[in-house]
Amino acid sequence: MFAPDQHQLLDFGAGRKLERFGRYTVDRPSPAAEGASERDRNLWQQADARYERSEGERGTWSYRRRIDGPCAVRHGLLTLELKFTEFGHLGIFPEQAGNWDWLAGQIRAAGRPLKVLNLFAHTGASTLAVAAAGAEVVHVDAASNVVTWARRNAKASNLADAPTRWITEDALKFVRRELKRGNGYDAVILDPPGYGHGPHGETWKLAEHLGELLTMCLELTAARRQFMLLSCHSGELAFASELLHATLAVAPELRREGTIQAHELSLVSLAGDRLHCGAAMRWSALPEADHPNPAARGHTIERPREA
Ligand SMILES: C[S@@+](CC[C@H](N)C(=O)[O-])C[C@H]1O[C@@H](n2cnc3c(N)ncnc32)[C@H](O)[C@@H]1O
Repeated sequence: MFAPDQHQLLDFGAGRKLERFGRYTVDRPSPAAEGASERDRNLWQQADARYERSEGERGTWSYRRRIDGPCAVRHGLLTLELKFTEFGHLGIFPEQAGNWDWLAGQIRAAGRPLKVLNLFAHTGASTLAVAAAGAEVVHVDAASNVVTWARRNAKASNLADAPTRWITEDALKFVRRELKRGNGYDAVILDPPGYGHGPHGETWKLAEHLGELLTMCLELTAARRQFMLLSCHSGELAFASELLHATLAVAPELRREGTIQAHELSLVSLAGDRLHCGAAMRWSALPEADHPNPAARGHTIERPREA
């Protein structure tokens, strides 16, 4: 979780969410908030920036007060830059903060140096969480502008010299090539969108490609697998149990070889209401009792049955 002075979900309802990021209060669409009612209309009057979708995935921001200079939020050792993009995102998914803490705990508890592959790595929060804990990281994303943004976040977090490779590439293509080259990893982090594009127009469809990608990631880590984290913000496979079953369908051995857990990604508002934001599946070679940072485990909604 973020410290409340860095990020807080203030309220949600009528298809929108109201959040405070550092000094700024932001009002933007949230499909998960459809059907809910706002708790405190007065809070919404304080929004400094409001986003409206206009055509397709794009839209525009309107500002009640000037946003001065670069803004950023902090989480532990990480400093993450915010930008008001035309897609309505700010470069941060705050509901992932528990996963960043879990990842850092996994690196520290492994007791050996780890090499981590981060796919769909976006602006790099997960990359930096594991780099700050001492891992070597390969960061892969299709969009060169978000890879540049991730590198700025590394610099702002004093991690510019950490052993991280920054790669602009289609995730599927990169993983296929790594297998051909015989490269291996200790851990993989994946946060795929429902639909996306590689830098050369390659198509990514979660429902179509996730099985193949997971199978290849398991091959990449077969010799020394320490942990895996799969998360998803998409409505298509938005439930933790579905992620869990998709993973176990391609790798039933994960159930026997370590601890597997699925949980909902969510944020809790000032009034204590939970906004559903997606799902995550965590697998670790550590037995459950040794899982570091139990507070970062999240809100478990389904546990796998014994094989
Ligand atoms: C949901 S975001 C990841 C969020 C990130 N893990 C975080 O917590 O901040 C999805 C990312 O996938 C990238 N992407 C989309 N299609 C891709 C593809 N075919 N190969 C690699 N990256 C892709 C997008 O550029 C975007 O940065």
